[in-house]
Amino acid sequence: EKDGYPSFMEKEIHDQPAAVGDTLLGRLDENGRLTLDEIKIDETVLRSIDKIVVIACGTAAYAGQVARYAIEHWCRIPTEVELAHEFRYRDPIVNEKTLVVAVSQSGETMDTLMAVRHAQEQGAKVVAICNTNGSTIPREADAVLYTHAGPEIAVASTKAFLAQITAAYLLGLYLAQLRGNKFKDEISTMLAELEAMPAKIQRVLDEVEPQVKELATGMKDAGSVLFLGRHVGFPVAMEGALKLKEIAYIHAEGFAAGELKHGPIALIDQGQPVFVIVPSPNGRDSLHAKVVSNIQEIRARGAETIVIAEEGDDAVREFANHVFYVPEAPTLLQPLLATVPLQIFACELAGAKGYDVDQPRNLAKSVTVE
Ligand code: M6R
Repeated sequence: EKDGYPSFMEKEIHDQPAAVGDTLLGRLDENGRLTLDEIKIDETVLRSIDKIVVIACGTAAYAGQVARYAIEHWCRIPTEVELAHEFRYRDPIVNEKTLVVAVSQSGETMDTLMAVRHAQEQGAKVVAICNTNGSTIPREADAVLYTHAGPEIAVASTKAFLAQITAAYLLGLYLAQLRGNKFKDEISTMLAELEAMPAKIQRVLDEVEPQVKELATGMKDAGSVLFLGRHVGFPVAMEGALKLKEIAYIHAEGFAAGELKHGPIALIDQGQPVFVIVPSPNGRDSLHAKVVSNIQEIRARGAETIVIAEEGDDAVREFANHVFYVPEAPTLLQPLLATVPLQIFACELAGAKGYDVDQPRNLAKSVTVE
């Protein structure tokens, strides 16, 4: 069942082009318009939504954070992301005009389920983004957008994460389309860009995987690894850190790169490995230049900089000890590519340390207790 891979996790990392492709499948009509038949919530209700709250835990919550950037940009609907176990206990302001998006691979996470129930009690409609057909969260939700990643066996989530992000993009673009947003051209461009992602993910696997594996085996003795990202690269950084904690038992932290000077830069010392996820140099604003200057700052303080950047981005070379290039993509879609080297890194490092990659200590695949 592992298709010849040493672990389910490694197999599932390789399943990702298909996971993303299958999640997109059948959701575009012949005119390139999105058809999400599963969203059985009245369109007038969806048009009246004035706030979106994404609730989830762990990796699914990082998918939610990526979703926030995309949904707010495309739909101009204020969007919050909250850990499901925190959401319920802060007396959240949720009502009939709130759309709650519950993201869960298993559909059985108790914290998320309880948050769904709480939101529904306040009158909110709930859309579940879920990978497990017929599980509890989609059964109780008002609508479901299934991710078609196939069963995920490894405790550390990989392909479900990419599929969740893909489904969230579809939801965001669907809402933008439904609400007649003025971004019509952007919607069709994004849909075409999404269709191109499976092949680009495959390229990361083909071209970058061997380099990342080599780096990982040489870093078996790392005591702590930091991850920096900005905009959608921030949740990617958090996800990279979580993977490493979960399966390689290495202390790891993800930071927003802009936060570095507000404290974490004090951690940078000679030889400290730091992954940096660099936004596209073609993106808006000056984010790229800012992140490059972050790399420069930490390198000057002795960090070992491991940079994930877009192909053709030569500006990062000067300050990077290692660079992994991923194919070009619109900034909002970059997490589908930039996450992959981080997953490979954690998987390879954990394997090199002799750990059970699929069944890390103290963890269960689905957390059905609060
Ligand atoms: O099944 P869910 O998506 O609701 O699970 C949520 C988290 O428990 C899960 O993502 C967890 O963080 C993974 N082990 C991450 O690799």
